[in-house]
Amino acid sequence: MPRILITGGAGFIGSHAALHFARHGWDVRVLDNLSRGQLLHKVDPNARHNWDRLGSEAQVGAEVPIPGSLPLEQKPIERILGDIRDRDTVNEAVRDVDVVLHAAAQTAVTTSTVDPATDFETNALGTFRVLNAIRESGRKPAFLYCSTNKVYGERVNAVPLEERESRWTFAGPHARGIPEEFGVDLCEHTPYGCSKLTGDLYVQDFGHLYGLKVGVFRMSCIYGTQQFGLEDQGWVAWFVIAALRGAPLTIFGDGKQVRDVLWVDDLVRAYEAFIERGPQVGVFNMGGGSEFTLSLRELLAQLEARLGRKIPVAQAGWRPSDQKVYVSNIDHARSTLGWRPEVSPKQGVDRLFDWVEQNPSLFAHIG
Ligand SMILES: NC(=O)c1ccc[n+]([C@@H]2O[C@H](COP(=O)([O-])OP(=O)(O)OC[C@H]3O[C@@H](n4cnc5c(N)ncnc54)[C@H](O)[C@@H]3O)[C@@H](O)[C@H]2O)c1
Repeated sequence: MPRILITGGAGFIGSHAALHFARHGWDVRVLDNLSRGQLLHKVDPNARHNWDRLGSEAQVGAEVPIPGSLPLEQKPIERILGDIRDRDTVNEAVRDVDVVLHAAAQTAVTTSTVDPATDFETNALGTFRVLNAIRESGRKPAFLYCSTNKVYGERVNAVPLEERESRWTFAGPHARGIPEEFGVDLCEHTPYGCSKLTGDLYVQDFGHLYGLKVGVFRMSCIYGTQQFGLEDQGWVAWFVIAALRGAPLTIFGDGKQVRDVLWVDDLVRAYEAFIERGPQVGVFNMGGGSEFTLSLRELLAQLEARLGRKIPVAQAGWRPSDQKVYVSNIDHARSTLGWRPEVSPKQGVDRLFDWVEQNPSLFAHIG
């Protein structure tokens, strides 16, 4: 059976991917240093939740059945507690694998602006360490990189917009979203955008230079269960959690800001499609695309309908790097990978709401 290493396996995306591949018969190894809370400068009572889940729930079965999945039996997931910046740890973890999914990162734009050094070391240097270990291993495993739409920086804000009743939308040539050819130059990015773009370019370059199979996934908003969203990162989950827990919620700007949103299982299917039939070097804008978008106001309306009450929300001004609209053009992923997202924002938000509602102990510290 093929073997996959998933860095950031205790995180939201990494843990979903680990369980998915394990349930499909892969040998799965995860590497994580459980630093999410520390990186985001937040107390994180759930730091071990996804990590522990890989060791236990993995044996029991999927909470949401995966379409076309095999019977829920798999080998135990191997868990390595370690740091992607540590050369020996990474070399050892990479040595005998066929695929590496690199999801470990400092993930918040906001904390990257107050601690750019840790952001750089984790995202740029950490990614380099993993890539270089692959090069040195001689085994040439395929490499999938969790990049971000933030590589396009402030240029996105120059795209013409149209204002509608509950949302902003892209107008003109970008009505289907931002394509992979969109420029990255002559604009601000934030340190997070820079460190992720550094990794993004290194991954592509190592693909070309050393003949590695590499897939760069420039992801927009990914959401799902097991996501411990915060005001600074993971906004859909944060709004669901805060609404259910009665925690204070703030809308920055007019609430009409729009993102394309991708249910995490749909993302993992895209990773799988790349491994099976992706090109040698691929760059994919990855999100729900123009059909699966959501504004903050629309999310609030759906949550209020489920709760049967108004949700009190404070208003604040736009923050410096806020984007009114980001929508990924996913045509390249659709045509190259034969993939498309399946879970609509309505279905996904309902599933997320159910998960938060059914697991109050995970959120007892909020509200
Ligand atoms: N969630 C999204 O909407 C989204 C959007 C765009 C890009 N991404 C990218 O996807 C990846 C996964 O995001 P996520 O939402 O699952 O984040 P997450 O914070 O839930 O997971 C990241 C994991 O990386 C681990 N980690 C951090 N530094 C590490 C280090 N030095 N060594 C080992 N492990 C380390 C953390 O402990 C955490 O478990 C990240 O690379 C992120 O930049 C996510």
